[in-house]
Amino acid sequence: MTDVIAEVEIIQNNDLFSWEEIANLLHDAFQERLKQGLQFTCSFLTAKELEQKSNNCIVLIAKNKISNQLLGTVFYERKSSQRAYHSNLAVNPTSKHLGIATKLFSAFKELASINGCEHIISDTAQQATSSVLWHKKNGFIPISLRSYGSTNYYSIVFRNQLKHHWFWSNKLFCKIHFTISSILCHMYRHKDGTLTTLGKLIEIFRISE
Ligand SMILES: CC(C)(COP(=O)(O)OP(=O)(O)OC[C@H]1O[C@@H](n2cnc3c(N)ncnc32)[C@H](O)[C@@H]1OP(=O)(O)O)[C@@H](O)C(=O)NCCC(=O)NCCS
Repeated sequence: MTDVIAEVEIIQNNDLFSWEEIANLLHDAFQERLKQGLQFTCSFLTAKELEQKSNNCIVLIAKNKISNQLLGTVFYERKSSQRAYHSNLAVNPTSKHLGIATKLFSAFKELASINGCEHIISDTAQQATSSVLWHKKNGFIPISLRSYGSTNYYSIVFRNQLKHHWFWSNKLFCKIHFTISSILCHMYRHKDGTLTTLGKLIEIFRISE
């Protein structure tokens, strides 16, 4: 395992790999999620759509130094002066559990720190156990639950604090925030993003205000 990971290097894509190759990697990696019935947006994006959606992103690539084989990816987007958004984390199905996603994240964190970001936000499906465990192992703390109209699952929003913050660096505060957010999310929305009966009533009340 040590030898394999020693041969992996992380680079910024800069056109070495085509959008088609990156889209194919995402499709292959997220097959396991489709088998679970979880419809992640990137499972369906064409190369063109991926390119358009990734306008403001830096694409980090894990590749084999010698063979140049594409092994993994993650997209970096600076959402504000303080926040970097971590998305489209994917590792080639034959290269999982070797530390490649962790290596990608080290490069991601370095980039975020160089850019002066204070924290990183990521999200994943609540039932995507290996991804949830990976986030926790890499220092991400669950802070909210969301339901998006574009997916068919509840998403856990994770936060990784690079600089100390009085609220977000406190695990107990994060836990309380997550618990309240989960209760409200379930009360307000179904897992496909549609409003629950209570959510509809609240919306009617808000519109008539
Ligand atoms: C999730 C994913 C990115 C992890 O990549 P990886 O390179 O295999 O992960 P690493 O080797 O760096 O990290 C391993 C850690 O991740 C977690 N993990 C990864 N695969 C796991 C599995 N099948 N079961 C349980 N935990 C798993 C564990 O915490 C593990 O640590 P451990 O070895 O001490 O148990 C990869 O499995 C993948 O591409 N999955 C499909 C796409 C996806 O879900 N992406 C994330 C969406 S946000």
